[in-house]
This record gives sequence, structure tokens and C-alpha cells, in this order.
Amino acid sequence: MIIAVDGPAASGKGTIARALARHFGLPHLDTGLLYRAAALRLLRTGGNPASEEQAVAACDMTGIDFADPELKSEAAGGVASRISAYPAVRAALVERQRRFAEQPGGAVLDGRDIGTVIAPNADAKLFVTASPEVRARRRFDELERLGMPLPFADVLADIEARDARDRNRPTAPLAQAEDAYLLDTSSLGVEGAIAEAIAAVTAAT
Ligand code: C5P
Repeated sequence: MIIAVDGPAASGKGTIARALARHFGLPHLDTGLLYRAAALRLLRTGGNPASEEQAVAACDMTGIDFADPELKSEAAGGVASRISAYPAVRAALVERQRRFAEQPGGAVLDGRDIGTVIAPNADAKLFVTASPEVRARRRFDELERLGMPLPFADVLADIEARDARDRNRPTAPLAQAEDAYLLDTSSLGVEGAIAEAIAAVTAAT
């Protein structure tokens, strides 16, 4: 069973994907971490995000610590959002994601293009969303928890800029797959959102 969970930044898709993985006993891949890891490598090596060639070179995942809290920083997220628009960067990361999706027994993947590009034949697809203000509030709280606080207005502006980049890029833009279940978490608590996600996946499979 392959479960695809897509949606914009801070929509709750990561929390939902992890809960689905636990519930259905499947491995989970947060594909945003791959783009963030490439971005962080680029930042740490003084690379230029405006160079597609340098961004592709940074997609080598050798030695990446996926538990590094810096991956969650706004700096890494911002650069990830920029370099993820390069077709060659997406191409460099696609195989790793497809291999994960196609492992025996199935998997849960969350990202922007799982249901549309990485696993178009997924058994269940969710498109998780929430208003920009609600998502900015969640991200603001998360950054505070991580000890990397930023003013709310900056977080909201960043979410809106990232949405625009993710939705408007020509290659694999953020979009709801035709056969995806739309889950709006704006007025749902974590438990409510998870319950609705489990029900939607159960109905689809
Ligand atoms: O989901 P997360 O915010 O960690 O992703 C960071 C950035 O990586 C996103 O803004 C998006 O531009 C990019 N991304 C992507 N495709 C994915 C996952 C993430 O383009 N499947």
C-alpha cells in the first residue's frame, strides 16, 4: 500500500503522514528533508542557490544526518524552496523517492508532488491544506520550540512566498492530484485531522 500525502508548508502533512505510517504499520519518508538536506549542504559549502549546477551537486545525500535540527531552519527551507524549482534537482532526487515508495509492503511519503509525479499510482492520496495564517502560526510555534524564533509577520511572508514558488514553478508544481482527498486542517486539532486522514485512507483502500 502506497500512501501519498501532499500539501503546502506547515499544513500538517508531516504530522498526518507520520500518524498514518504508525497506524498502518508502514515506513515513512518526509521528502522535504531531501530538498532541505541539499539546501543545507549548499549553504554550508558556500554554494550559490542561483546556480542550478551547484544545487545539483549538493543533492549527493552521502553523510547527511537527517536528524540535524538545522534542516528545519527557515534558511534551509527557503533555499530548499528555491532550488526545488530546478528540473535537474528534482531529477536527482526522484529515484530515491520512487525506490522508497515501491519497497515491498508499501510506504507513506509526504511532499509536494508525491500523488502527481513520484507515485501517481498511489493507493491513497491526501492533499492537506490550511489557511496561510493558520500555517504561519504553526510554523511560528515550531520555530520557537526549536529555539529559532522569528517575528510572526516574517513567518507569514515566508509561507506566502514559498506557496507562490511551489505552486507556480513549471516542473512538478504543488497541486492537488485529481484523485486526492482534500483535507483542510484550518479548524481541526491534531487528533481530529489524524482521524479524518485515517478514515479517508481506509475508504480509499
Ligand atoms: O515540506 P518542506 O517545507 O520541508 O519542504 C521544503 C521545500 O522543499 C518546499 O518549500 C518545496 O519547495 C520543496 N519540496 C518539493 N517537493 C517535495 C518536498 C519538498 O519541491 N516533494
